Amino acid sequence: MMDDYTLPFWIYLGVLTVFVGGVMKRILASHLGAAPLVAWLGATVLVERLWAFCLPAVLLLLLLGLACCLYAAARTGPPPAALPAHGKAVLITGCDSGFGNATVKRLDALGFEVFATVLDMSGGGARELQRSCSARLTLLQVDITQPQQVQQALMDTKTKLGPRGLWGLVNNAGVCVNFGDVELSLMSNFHGCMDVNFFGTLSVTKSFLPLLRQAKGRIITISSPAGDQPFPCLAAYGASKAALNLLINTLRHELEPWGVQVSTILPSSFKTGQSSNQAYWELQYKQLLQSLSPELLEDYGEDYVTETKELFQSYAGQANSDLSPVTDTIVQALLSPKPQVRYFAGPGVGLMYFIHSYCPFSISNRFLQNLFLKKKLMPRALRMQSDFDLNLSLHNNNNNNNNDDNNEEEKLK
Ligand SMILES: *[C@@H]1O[C@H](CO)[C@@H](O)[C@H](O)[C@H]1NC(C)=O
Repeated sequence: MMDDYTLPFWIYLGVLTVFVGGVMKRILASHLGAAPLVAWLGATVLVERLWAFCLPAVLLLLLLGLACCLYAAARTGPPPAALPAHGKAVLITGCDSGFGNATVKRLDALGFEVFATVLDMSGGGARELQRSCSARLTLLQVDITQPQQVQQALMDTKTKLGPRGLWGLVNNAGVCVNFGDVELSLMSNFHGCMDVNFFGTLSVTKSFLPLLRQAKGRIITISSPAGDQPFPCLAAYGASKAALNLLINTLRHELEPWGVQVSTILPSSFKTGQSSNQAYWELQYKQLLQSLSPELLEDYGEDYVTETKELFQSYAGQANSDLSPVTDTIVQALLSPKPQVRYFAGPGVGLMYFIHSYCPFSISNRFLQNLFLKKKLMPRALRMQSDFDLNLSLHNNNNNNNNDDNNEEEKLK
């Protein structure tokens, strides 16, 4: 029976299964509209029929490949000419360091009139920007969680712009207060992330919308793949970015009639201000150990918390220090005649989303666990439990074999 089926048939079946599996997953996640779905299923049936008419497998695969290439080429096409930057005003938040610092310099050099908000007007980042940028740059002191500071920045911006509108708002300011298992994370961690990443961005966006509508401008928001995918130990940060993503995607629909275009940028891991601040993470770690209840610390073990911190540090150490993929993407979103809804910036993000969207959960979960924080230690209580189970089973096995008993006990220690 098995001999009736040739190798190409199994390859074909495998490919088909992946496609159908992808469709099923998308239906379940309600990401796909009806039309592409029908087209997809239609194509699958067509391929199946062609197969039934004994088309050689190699030819069929070639045809499929060719169709994919044509489709990709038709979608990309030659890039349309970018809009001029000259005379366009852009406000960008969180410019003390990281993406903000790099983007302000880039936009200023391109000829934009840049309004840059910083937390600390007398800090190194602000002074460096003031020194290295043109006279078009306006620095504004804003903590985006403080509504009156946001209002003040709006008034200052309006005064400077006069009757003109604002072409771009780049929502860049964001924080990751701390990281770790949900049970081991303080509530202040969740509140801190929500306050800045969600409520702060919402407050800035709402305040500047009248100016953006006036210019039929653009909103560009730096989010994170952690807002779409369950990265281990990043629940607080990820949940705030997930809330942000939904807000921004809803705004995108609502602002379409106004001619305001809305894009989200999803960067891979980059060395930005806070992530490379070792002293900050050490302090957070010490505070966490002090705030955890003795029972929790007993169950998880201090070494478990320490391992998480060390893994995060080594991950942050491997992050890209060249921020240009993100600054390039921000420029593209500001100046492309047709900005995309979503941009992936940096190596690996596209692949990450492909695996998240099309692979079964067993694979995508494993991918996240191994890619990000590859934890080796189990929580302490579980380690003791499994030691206990192991002891028990060895003991049972060794009942018939008393000579080995001592050896086995030795190994376990
Ligand atoms: C800002 O970016 C420049 C590179 O353009 C870098 O040398 C500098 O350290 C950055 N400043 C801060 C405060 O991040």
